[in-house]
Parts: sequence; structure tokens; C-alpha cells
Amino acid sequence: MCGIVAYKGKKNCYPILINGLKKLEYRGYDSAGIACISGKGNITISKRSGKVKQLEETLKKNNVHKKCTGTGIAHTRWATHGRPNQVNSHPHNDQSGSIVLVHNGIIENYDPIKKFLKSKNIKFKSETDTEVLVQLIGYFYNKGKLTFEQSVRAALQRVDGAYAIVVLNKNEPDKMIAARKGSPLVLGINEEEFFVGSDISPIINYTQQIIYLEESQMAIIGEKDYEIKSIEKDISLPKVVEKIDYKIDDYDKGKFKFFMHKEIHEQVDTISNTIIGRTKGHNVLLNGLMEYWSQIESASKIYITACGTSWHAGLIGKNLIERFSEVPVHVEYASEFRYNKILVDNDSVVIAISQSGETADTLAAIKKANDYGAITIGICNVPGSSISRETDCGVFTRCGHEVGVASTKAFTAQISILYLFALKLAYVKKQISKSAMKAHLDFASSVTKVKSILRKENYIKKIASKYKNASDFLYLGRGLNFPVALEGALKLKEISYIHAEGYPAAEMKHGPIALVDKNMPNVFIVPKDKTYDKIISNIEEIKSRKGKIIIITDSKEKVLKDLANDLIVVPKTNHYMFCILATIVLQLFAYYIAVGKKLNVDQPRNLAKSVTVE
Ligand code: M6R
Repeated sequence: MCGIVAYKGKKNCYPILINGLKKLEYRGYDSAGIACISGKGNITISKRSGKVKQLEETLKKNNVHKKCTGTGIAHTRWATHGRPNQVNSHPHNDQSGSIVLVHNGIIENYDPIKKFLKSKNIKFKSETDTEVLVQLIGYFYNKGKLTFEQSVRAALQRVDGAYAIVVLNKNEPDKMIAARKGSPLVLGINEEEFFVGSDISPIINYTQQIIYLEESQMAIIGEKDYEIKSIEKDISLPKVVEKIDYKIDDYDKGKFKFFMHKEIHEQVDTISNTIIGRTKGHNVLLNGLMEYWSQIESASKIYITACGTSWHAGLIGKNLIERFSEVPVHVEYASEFRYNKILVDNDSVVIAISQSGETADTLAAIKKANDYGAITIGICNVPGSSISRETDCGVFTRCGHEVGVASTKAFTAQISILYLFALKLAYVKKQISKSAMKAHLDFASSVTKVKSILRKENYIKKIASKYKNASDFLYLGRGLNFPVALEGALKLKEISYIHAEGYPAAEMKHGPIALVDKNMPNVFIVPKDKTYDKIISNIEEIKSRKGKIIIITDSKEKVLKDLANDLIVVPKTNHYMFCILATIVLQLFAYYIAVGKKLNVDQPRNLAKSVTVE
């Protein structure tokens, strides 16, 4: 996992690299580093543990920012092999100090290669798999028989796993080599100026001429020109340059202390932005799917694959699609989908849901679905992302940049798209009437109810402060609100480090109830629907074991007041929008517990915004 940015041109590379790292911090933030190379071949490496901001402060203090040259590589890390300390941070160099490299991915056969290199008297400084790769390149190069390019190729042909790398060599300071297999890498091209990035975000504000390196390709970048070659064979490949008409605006926290808080509030607009222009009267317009719509509409089964919060959205999607259109839907964790026997064929639709569009497992799952001949749909937030490019067609969630590691507005936007998709499918299958469509779409685009949740913020904050020292939580809901319970528990875990589990409310009797005692808060999501009375019984079961009860409901019935230690009533809406309102309550609840514990809400420990390794 990790983010890579590199520059080769006539400007000082420092601002490009440091700003690029800030944009890539979503891929990891436990350490960061920069290396630049002068025309004479002097390499300066600066790296440290901690966030990019801390690296920036150190570089400024040491005046490194003024001394940077026109060629540099940079990296922000999420540790896989080796602790997040300075030694394990990238860039890494070989023993001779000639070769320096940044890497995103995992070298799986690092151990035998390390043993081999050690037998050749090569000494290792770090615990990383990456150092094995740079030492292997150095080993080939220093034997004197292979050129720099040949040495990189020879090393890459011997490693298994996934990588995106950028390499410099002090003996050939005019050359920069980038290569990828499994992990994404893009090139940006200007006249006599080249950029490399893990995605377009660190590049796109400088150039719109982009090459997405394909699997097993390398780019050999010189002073004025570049070549694309295969890693397997020394043959030149066509340069497929795309013009990407997209700019990334600066996105700041505004009046908020944390991005997560801002992003929760933005849902007043993002939910409607996701829907605007996609409905007309009783019709749903999903233009991004139209090229494949006849196959989508006639598919016999649908798979949804995703990770984390996006997987929870997938569970809600399953419920909606099956309810409205009666097409069977299977929801699979992408990490399972990619290795399990999955009965996908050319009569199946596979929907990948991903905020970042870069999650390695989801990307691999969609590649598998493509290989099996399914129609693949991406529901992504980031235009130009790997998943949005790998799928046959898709719909963007359009909720803007999401920076907080805990996904909030992306989740409610994903649900909104799935809602539209389910309705559209049902309508063409004649499972739903015009008037019912119209009623659903009116609800979907109404945001006033979201505002009313935000007006309850102080009340939710007060409740959160009562529970901030709890060590375990249960989140319980039924039907559509079971995934909401899972999502509420995930939000709490990731930003407050409190153990929480989501369960179908009735399933709790089959084990988790053993955990319940007077200290245990139990969050119940209780819409006034056909399961209402059943959930009341479930609450009674917990109550009689002295568990604390927090209820989120749209019902004003007295029984709930009597049962709850804390009650949060959301406005009446339909069942589907209730999920969104309850989710926003749970986002605020988790947020205020984490703030109460004085934690870094936006960048929780051990996590990264986008998980780009399997
Ligand atoms: O970018 P993606 O939606 O593919 O990311 C999937 C998960 O990594 C992500 O939802 C993760 O679970 C979030 N941190 C949850 O808040």
C-alpha cells in the first residue's frame, strides 16, 4: 500500500512532490520520504516516520526544500513489512548507494531473494520487502554486465507479488524508470517534463496528458523523451496518451476541525448531488449504464463486490434490488470473491462499489468478473480511478473529495445510487408502478430530513459523551438496517478504537447476548415497519439483562421511551431513506465519541483511506 509521486523536469521537484504526497496520504500515512538526484548524480534521501506534514517540517528546517533538483521521487507509506520507523520508510537504496527506489505493493518472494542476496554479502538495513527489490536491482547493476534498464527488468522478472515502482540511478541521473504489476501507476506528460503517480491526483493539476501504465509495463523516462516497454521482453510498446479533462480543487476543512465532521455535514448536498439529473418524473436516468443496459436488464443474477463500508452499501443494495426487481443478488467481500469459486458467467452483472476506486481486492475481483465474461459496473467516487476504468460501465457517486478515513458521505451516496439502480431495474421489469416510482424518487431527493438530523447534533454529542468510556458495543438492526448496524459499529471501531459488533437484532440471542451486562451499550435501529414489534422484544431481552439501550427510531411511541436509556427520534420518511438518516446519526455518534477521547478522527491508527494491497 502506499502512495508514489515522482517528477522529472526543469523545475524544483520539491513542491510537486510534497503537495503530491499530501494528495496521496489517503493511501497511507505512517511515514514518508523524498529522494532527489542532481545532474552530477548526487542523491539526497530524506525520510522519517509520521505524517507528510511532519516530513515537510523536517525538510524545511533542514533547508532540503531549497536544495531539491529537477528529478525526485517521493513516497507515503502504510507499513506492510516492517514497523513504521525511519529506517523502513521509503525511498530505499541499494548497498552501493547507486540505486534508489520507491515502491507500492508487496514482494511476496522477498525471503528467498533476501537469503540469496545475503549469501552474496549484501547487508540489509531495513525489515522491508522493498529493500530486497532495490538490492536485487543493485546486485545486477553492480555486476557490471547489465545496463540500468536491464537490471531493473532482470530484478522485476524475478519478483512475485504486486508492485508499482519508480527508480533512480546516480550513474545515470538523466534517467527515471517506472514500472508496474498489480499496483496502479500513471504517467503525466508535458513538454520536457514528466510526472509519475499512484493515481492522477498528484499530477492532474500540472498536465492533462496521461498514460495509464498497463500490467507488466515499464516507462523509461529520459530528459526529453520516454519509452513504454514490456517488463517481460525488451520491446517498445505504443504510447497510449489520454487527455483527462479533470482538475482537483483544493479541499480544506473550512470551519470544521476534522474532515470527517465536514463530510458528515456535506451530506445535505451530496445526497441530492448524487441524484440530481438522474431522475425525470417517474424515470431514472443512469446514462453511464445505457450502453450495456439491455444486458443488465436481462441478467439472471447480480453480484455486488466491495470492501468495508462499501460492502455495507452493497448489502443495502442487495435488499433494495431483490425487493424491487426480484433479481437474485449475491454480495461478496472482494477479498473472498477473488479467490472463491464464484458462479459468475456472461449472464451475470457484477457491481463493484468503491469510494476510492483503488481498493486492491475490489480491483482484482472486477478483473476476475471481466475474465468470466460478466458485465461489470463500477459505483465509484473518483473519476479516472482504476476500478472506474476496469469496469464496462458505471455511475459516479459525485460526492466530492472524501478525506476522512472513516467513509461517510460516500456511503450515503452509494446507497442513493443503488436505490436508483434498483428502482430503474424494477421499472423496466414492470415490477413497480409509475406512481410508486414517483413517490420513491421524491423521497430520495428530499434533503430537508438530513438537515433535521444535523440540527440534533448537540443532543447526539451529549449522548456520545455518556458512552465514551465503554469498552464494547452491540449495534442491532433488522432487514435494511442490519447493514446500517454493521456500518455504525465499523465507524465506532475505526475512529474510537472501541470494540463494536453489528448483528441482525434477533441473531443476537444466538451468542452475542452472553456479552451483555450493565456496562454494555446496545444501539438499536428501530424503524416503525413490519419488524417493529419483533425488535421491541429483542430490546426487552437485552433490557432484562441490564444492558444499556440506545434507540434510533422514527416512532414516537411511549414504549420506546420507557425502554431506552437514550432515544434519538428521526423524522418520518420511507424505509429506504430511514437507513440514510439512521446512518448519519451513527456517524455523528461515533464522531463525538472519538472527539471526546481526543483521537485523530481523520487519520486513525493503523488505517489508510484506500487499501491498495491485498
Ligand atoms: O475506497 P473503498 O470504498 O473501496 O474502500 C473500502 C474500504 O476500505 C473502506 O470503506 C473502509 O472500510 C473505510 N475506512 C470505512 O470507513
